Amino acid sequence: METKNTPPPSQSSPTPPPSPPPAPNLQHFKRKFLAQAPLTPTFNAISLFNPPPTCFHQPCQSGIATIISAALNSPTPPSFRYSLKVLQLYSKNAEAAGFFVEDDEFMVILKTAIDVCKKITEPESDLLCYECFESTDPTLLPTKSPLAIRIAPFHNDVGLRCWEAGYFLAEFFLCHPEIIRNKRVLELGAGVGLTGLVCAGSPTLRCPSVHMTDYTPETIVNMKHNVLINSEWLGEVNNKDSCTVGFLDWTELAEEKSVEGVSYLNRAEVLIAADCVYDRDYIPHLVAAVKLLLEGGGGNKQAIFATTFRNEATFELFISSLQSYSVKYEELKIPDAGLGEKYEIFDRFYIQQRSEMRIHKFTL
Ligand SMILES: C[S@@+](CC[C@H](N)C(=O)[O-])C[C@H]1O[C@@H](n2cnc3c(N)ncnc32)[C@H](O)[C@@H]1O
Repeated sequence: METKNTPPPSQSSPTPPPSPPPAPNLQHFKRKFLAQAPLTPTFNAISLFNPPPTCFHQPCQSGIATIISAALNSPTPPSFRYSLKVLQLYSKNAEAAGFFVEDDEFMVILKTAIDVCKKITEPESDLLCYECFESTDPTLLPTKSPLAIRIAPFHNDVGLRCWEAGYFLAEFFLCHPEIIRNKRVLELGAGVGLTGLVCAGSPTLRCPSVHMTDYTPETIVNMKHNVLINSEWLGEVNNKDSCTVGFLDWTELAEEKSVEGVSYLNRAEVLIAADCVYDRDYIPHLVAAVKLLLEGGGGNKQAIFATTFRNEATFELFISSLQSYSVKYEELKIPDAGLGEKYEIFDRFYIQQRSEMRIHKFTL
């Protein structure tokens, strides 16, 4: 017997409305964009989770526009030049695949970025911008906010950008926390301060005191800014004052001209440095600093350096200088497969790759 609601058998049921396309997954792209990762992996992160052609559809365009616009209007914006390059690469690929950029917001950001970049002239080449990092693993980096690092990528001062060895040393410590966990740290040539901030702020490292040093006034001002803007990030797992910044010139350490520097060496349990072995004139001073630290430690102290292997002769000078100061060194091996995806957080390996980094441990 037919009920009132049952359609007569001859009648076909109405076609259901098409289900809306799934929301684009742009988390991976967002992480790479905020870190200002190299362009190709940043672009590839869009299609990895939104296979073509969906990566060129309007919802994806709109999602990309929202992420870029929010970042550029945030207190820690990426560079306009970088944003423009990302937008242009996406548009170019969309057009090559037979799509066009249809999203109004996308077009507005593209135009704004072009206008801003036209105004960037040589005297302003020290343009400040931020790179921001998050880890999907809350045991490695705090999660309430990203780690934000101010850089001046076009400035001549080498301390106003983070070098590959600086990122790598931070990743290496996250991968081997036992080396540094809960230790008092002194960092030489800290630059923008990323490595030291990770030592103090990572839940897995929790170094109770990290004193980051450098010697140009611009670097020190910028590093203090980076500590300040990350105070909430630091405070999630550690005392907000765990990270401090100060002046320390290696050339003054060796002759014990810097009383403050020597007292920091005496207090530190671990001395760290990333990409500081590059200027032949400074090598003896660095080695003398390592020796000073180790001599004051009763065998419990160590120094860990990350070095970008660029020039064999410079590196040989470093080794012979260590030998002349009777400092022993050991290269800490990195597996051929690298540190593993979990630890490879700082996706900013533009020129030098992780495989070109060397980590050394120094003892007496
Ligand atoms: C190549 S950068 C590395 C910066 C940072 N460690 C990183 O990995 O991003 C070298 C750093 O050493 C600092 N530096 C160079 N000579 C120095 C000296 N005599 N005393 C103290 N710092 C020095 C520079 O200012 C710069 O910040």
